[in-house]
Amino acid sequence: MFSLELSETHEMIRQTARQFAQDEVAPTAVERDKSGEFPMEIVRKMGELGFMGMMVDPEWGGSGLDALSYVIAMEEISKVDASVGVVMSVNNSLVNWGIQTYGSDAQKERFLKPLAAGTVHGAFCLSEPEAGSDATSQHTTAEKVDGGWVLNGTKNWITNGTTAQTYLVMAQTNRELRHKGITCFIIDRNSEGFEPGLKEDKLGIRSSDTCSIGLTNVFVPDDQILGEVGQGFRIAMESLNGGRIGIAAQALGIATGAFEAALAYSQQRKAFGKPIADLQAIQLKLADMATKVEASRMLVYKSAWMKDMHLDYIKAAAQAKLMASTTAVQVALDAIQVHGGYGYVREYLVERFLRDAKITEIYEGTSEIQHIVIARELVKGK
Ligand code: CAA
Repeated sequence: MFSLELSETHEMIRQTARQFAQDEVAPTAVERDKSGEFPMEIVRKMGELGFMGMMVDPEWGGSGLDALSYVIAMEEISKVDASVGVVMSVNNSLVNWGIQTYGSDAQKERFLKPLAAGTVHGAFCLSEPEAGSDATSQHTTAEKVDGGWVLNGTKNWITNGTTAQTYLVMAQTNRELRHKGITCFIIDRNSEGFEPGLKEDKLGIRSSDTCSIGLTNVFVPDDQILGEVGQGFRIAMESLNGGRIGIAAQALGIATGAFEAALAYSQQRKAFGKPIADLQAIQLKLADMATKVEASRMLVYKSAWMKDMHLDYIKAAAQAKLMASTTAVQVALDAIQVHGGYGYVREYLVERFLRDAKITEIYEGTSEIQHIVIARELVKGK
């Protein structure tokens, strides 16, 4: 039975993440949103605090914490800057998790340790120009050669793409087997023929880096296959189940930030002779926003708790992401409405919440994909 009891450790993590976000992230967030500069120094400091390897076993240099701790930290950091949140989320959920779960000791020693320590960060390469939601349609190929594999293809929308050091890349090793012919490779960015493209100019999460990646005859040795040949799609899907909890926490952070900004503004802004928070039109909005944020928080924490309890969390993760991302967009829109004209200009900062929120309905499975995942689980009786 789900019980939401946060321990002293959880509270301490919230305080640490909140303080870090205020002291280290907030001062440069506006400027980085404008310039699109990647928060490299902040990411390295997150590594020192243990935020880049939160659920990695201490044996491999991680913090050895649970998923609930992770979502609490994600929420606090994304409340201040969702760009920093997504760098942390991809590293923890999509890269570390796969290597920790499926990697050999040698792979953990070489790749996981620096990722968990945050001295480098990673990227997850599943999407392609013609394989987004339809992820089984991978066009990137890996051909067997002596001692390894040669990869060719293009990956798209790769978060951390221009700045990462370690990339998990899905490729077809046997097209006839469809998704069972997909294999996951660990690739170092210095590999010959591995070429991250230019950083995309995005609507939101502008200081995180997203790019395409070209692979031209990239040789990857056998010992850089993660798991087994043909296991790549399973690794990708399982990683994304956890990833969706991370992105749900990012969306929760954005929604909370937007709500808190709207509440504070409504108490200070006067109209018709009183603070607008006393006007019923605004009160209806505030009540609605707070309720949606709290409902999202419950689903996000519940999905993390289920992961921690080793329960099947596929449906819970998809529900958390669907709910929290929809809420983030709606609450950010309402926060702009509460601010009126001031909400529409950059000086007042709330418009960034809306621009940052939108991507949470798209990446790590669109809302439409989350509906499919939830419905399929329901039909299975889960
Ligand atoms: N968990 C575990 N396994 C899963 C799974 C899940 N959530 N979803 C599917 N699978 C397994 C199925 O069990 C099946 O395995 P078996 O054949 O062994 O039984 C296999 O995957 C194929 O599944 P389907 O036959 O159902 O395939 P499908 O093509 O009908 O549907 C899909 C698959 C659910 C739509 C899947 O393609 C999907 O999730 N698409 C969305 C992709 C996505 O989320 N992309 C995000 C990109 S990464 C990103 O955004 C990161 C970033 O940079 C921020």
